[in-house]
Amino acid sequence: MLSIYFTSYQQLTKERFNLKKNMVAIYRKFGITTIIAVYLLILVGGIVRSTGSGMGCPDWPKCFGQYVPPTDISELPEDYKTVFAVQGREIADFNAVHTWIEYINRLLGVLIGFFILITAVLSISFWKKDKIITLFSVLALIAVIIQGWLGAKVVSTDLHEGMITIHMIMALLIVGLLIYTVVRSYNGIIKTEKITNPSKINLIAFASFGVAFLQLILGTQVRESIDTISKKLGENMRTEWIEGITEISNTFYIHRSFSILVLLLHLGLIYMLWKNASKNGRIQRLGKSLLIILIIEVITGIIMAYFAIPKPLQPIHMLLASVALGIHVLLILFINFDFLFRKNVVEVARGNTSNE
Ligand code: HEM
Repeated sequence: MLSIYFTSYQQLTKERFNLKKNMVAIYRKFGITTIIAVYLLILVGGIVRSTGSGMGCPDWPKCFGQYVPPTDISELPEDYKTVFAVQGREIADFNAVHTWIEYINRLLGVLIGFFILITAVLSISFWKKDKIITLFSVLALIAVIIQGWLGAKVVSTDLHEGMITIHMIMALLIVGLLIYTVVRSYNGIIKTEKITNPSKINLIAFASFGVAFLQLILGTQVRESIDTISKKLGENMRTEWIEGITEISNTFYIHRSFSILVLLLHLGLIYMLWKNASKNGRIQRLGKSLLIILIIEVITGIIMAYFAIPKPLQPIHMLLASVALGIHVLLILFINFDFLFRKNVVEVARGNTSNE
C-alpha cells in the first residue's frame, strides 16, 4: 500500500518536473514568436499610416459601433458621419478598405496582447531560477495594456502626430523587454563568445546604439511634419510634401545628414567586431546584419526623399529602423552576456540538468 503511494508520489513529482521543463522550453519558443509578431504589428501599423487608414475605425474598441465592421456603406446609418464624429468634427466618407486595414491592425494587436499574456504566464516557470525573467515578462504585459490605451488615444485625438510617436516608442520598449527576457532565458544554454577589448567594443556599441536611437527619434519628427503637411496639401500634392516640410523646419535635413554619422559609427563597430570577436560568430554576424539593414534604410530614405515618398517604402523604412534597434539590443546583450547573467549561470545550468 505504502509502495503504491510512494510510486504515485514519485510519478507526480516527475510529471511536475516534466511540466516545468516543457514550460521553460515553450517560453523560449513562444517568446521568439511573440517578438516576430510584434515586428509584424509594427509593419502593419506602418501600412495603416501609409494607406491613410488610421481613422478607418472612428471609435474604439468597437469599429463603427460593431465588433465586425461593415463592408458596405449601406450597413451604416445615414448620419454616420456625425454619429461617429471625432473631436466634434464629422468623419471622412466611409472607405471599406481603410476600415478593414485598421480592423486587421486591431485584431493583430489583440492577438499579440494574448501572446504577451501567455508569455507572462509561461515565465512563472522561471520564478525560482531567475525572478527577473518573470518580473520583466509581466512588465511587458503591463506595457502592452498601456499600449492598447495609447492606441485608443491615437484614434480619439484624430491621429495626433505626437501620440503616434509615443505609440511607436512604446512598441519598441515592448520589443526590447521581450528580447531581454528571452535572451536571459537562454542563460546557461548558449555558449558565450569571448571578445578582446571589451571596454572599447562596449563604447562603440553603446555609441552606435545611441545614434541609431536618436536617428529614429529624428525620423519620427520628419514623419510628424509629413503628417502635418499631407493634411494641408492633400494626397494629390504628394510630390510637394518634402519641399513643404523643409519650409516649416530643418528636421528633414538634420535626419538626412545624421545618417552619415550613423553609418560611419556602424562601420567603426563592424571593424572593431571584426578585429576582436570570433570569426563568423554570433556577435560578428549580428554586427554585419545591422550594417546591411542600415544601408537599406538609407537607400529607402533617399528614394522616399527624392521620389515623392512611395507609399510601400514608408512602413519598410520604419520597420527597418525598429529591427535595427532590436539587433542592437541583442548585440549589446551578447557582448556583455557573462557580465550581465554570469551570476545565474551556475544556478540555471544546474537547473537544466536536474529539473529539466
Ligand atoms: C540610419 C538611417 C535612418 C534611420 C534609422 C531612419 C529612421 C527613420 C524613422 C524611424 C522614421 C519615422 C518613421 C515613422 O514614424 O513612420 C523616418 C522617417 C523618414 N525618413 Fe528616415 N531614417 C534613416 C535615414 C534616412 C535618410 C538618409 C533619408 C533621406 C535622405 C530619410 C528620410 C526619411 C523620410 C522622408 C521620413 C518620413 C517618412 C514618412 O513620412 O513615412 N531617412 N526615418
